Parts: sequence; C-alpha cells; structure tokens
Amino acid sequence: MTNWLEIESKVVIVTGGSSGIGNEIVINLLENGAIVYNADLKDSNLNKKNYHFLQVDVTNRDIVQKAVNEVHNKEGKIDVLINNAGINLPRLLLDSAGSHPEYEINDKDLNFMFDVNLKGPIWFSQAVTKYFIEQNAGKIINISSEAGQEGSEGQSLYSATKAALIGLTRSWAKELGKYNINVVAIAPGIIEETGLRTKQYEEALAYSRNITVDQLNGDYSKSIPLRRVGKLKEISDLVCYLSSNKSSYITGTTINISGGKSRG
Ligand SMILES: NC(=O)c1ccc[n+]([C@@H]2O[C@H](COP(=O)([O-])OP(=O)(O)OC[C@H]3O[C@@H](n4cnc5c(N)ncnc54)[C@H](O)[C@@H]3O)[C@@H](O)[C@H]2O)c1
Repeated sequence: MTNWLEIESKVVIVTGGSSGIGNEIVINLLENGAIVYNADLKDSNLNKKNYHFLQVDVTNRDIVQKAVNEVHNKEGKIDVLINNAGINLPRLLLDSAGSHPEYEINDKDLNFMFDVNLKGPIWFSQAVTKYFIEQNAGKIINISSEAGQEGSEGQSLYSATKAALIGLTRSWAKELGKYNINVVAIAPGIIEETGLRTKQYEEALAYSRNITVDQLNGDYSKSIPLRRVGKLKEISDLVCYLSSNKSSYITGTTINISGGKSRG
C-alpha cells in the first residue's frame, strides 16, 4: 500500500529533535519513510534506519552553515527544514513583589531567548534557502506557539520571540514564493509535557502568575474546548502533513493547533 503522505526519501532537517515535540516529529517522519537529520546540542541516540544526528548549537551561524552543507553533500538535496529548537524562560516585565529580581527581564535572559528562538531559525533558513533556490523547491516549517499569537502572562519574552517567528514566516513566504518555497508556522497551545517544562521553568512561571506550581495545571475542561491538552503525536502529524506535497498551496500562514483554546 502506498503511503498517502508520500514523503518517502524526503531529506528533512529537524532542529531540537532530541526531546519533546522535535523528537516526536523525527519519529513520525522516519515512520513515514523520510531521511531525517536531527540538529541538536545532544543526541537522542535513536536507533532507527535513516536517522542521523548533527551536533549543532543553532545560535552559531558557522556551525549551522557547516551542518547544512554536510547534509547537502551527503544527500544531494534538502527537501524540508523544521525550525523546532526553542527555549522558554518565564520572566516578568517588572518584579513588583520584589522577592525574585532574577525573574525580571534582564539583558542576559533576553539575549539568550532571542538567540535560540530567533537567530536559530534565521541561520538555518538562510543556509537551506541557498539550496532550495537551486532546486526550485523546499519547505520551511517554523514551530511558533499560541503564546506568540495571544501573549502569555509571565512569558512576554517567549511570546515576543514566537510572534517574531510568525513575522519571519509571513515575510519569507513573500520573498521566496517565486522560487517555489513554502514557509509556514504552527502555533501549538497546551500540550503533553516535554523537556521544556523543567522545575526552574515551573517555579518561575508560578511566581510570575502569583500562584503555586500545583495550580499551574488548571482545569482544561473550562479553558480548552476539546477539554484536554494536545498530544505530541497530533503536533507531529500536522508537521508531517506540512512536510509533504499534499500541503503545496499553503504558505505564509500560521496554523493554530490548540484544541480550540485560541484561534490565533
Ligand atoms: N512544550 C510546549 O508546550 C510548547 C508549546 C508551543 C510551542 N512549543 C515550541 O516547540 C518547540 C519544542 O519545544 P519542546 O517543548 O519540545 O521543548 P524541549 O525542551 O522538550 O526540546 C527542545 C530541544 O531543543 C534543543 N535545543 C535547545 N537549545 C538548542 C540550541 N541552542 N541548539 C540546538 N538545539 C537546542 C534541546 O536540546 C531540546 O532537545 C519549541 O520551539 C517550543 O517553543 C512548545
């Protein structure tokens, strides 16, 4: 039986594919027959056919360029780039309570967030676009967030980086459409737990919202129309569809995937 998606033998680079959403995307793509390169700081040591690891810090332009060239030299083409690597440090504009000044926006955290969440996608997209233009084909998929569409209490820096990624998506689609390159973003809402949800993350977010860590996991039957958090597989299924030629007329837009919590 042929696979409806028809992404067999497509060469896909996934950044941050060793954990959470990225890891699920890597597995789903491999199960659909793609050749997958995971560009992450550390390997997930996935023991699967057609899985490759590239040790890359997405903030480093030279390393990103070398990694992309390496994939192209080996495979002779690159079909899809998925800009997934991202971090989230919850920070308040102003720590008005005054007991945790480290949770107030500062230069170091601002630069770190913008470096990983924005420079990463920019360096990677720049490096693959050279090849996409030669091929007259290619897809860039940016993993944004519902927070980038709606804003998020205690996560304004994160929200700003994810909103900027939506701006890059729209603009690159306009620049690159003439080369048959699709650029899309997705905006997941609340989903199953990933590596992003560390103890430090939860403590900072709870403080910024003046609630306890236990209260962070609210009653989703009220806030999410589908009454549950999203599954990683549901996110990766959308990304696989967007990686395929079945989505060839979708570009310059952001697809909200939040169970109806927000429509973007
Ligand atoms: N988890 C959520 O609720 C959620 C919701 C919406 C959007 N997102 C977005 O989805 C993406 C993945 O998030 P996740 O929850 O799976 O996170 P995660 O922490 O589980 O995984 C992120 C991966 O990125 C890698 N990474 C981080 N910095 C890197 C760098 N400088 N260079 C290379 N790799 C780096 C990490 O090593 C890790 O493997 C992020 O862009 C995140 O903003 C997550």
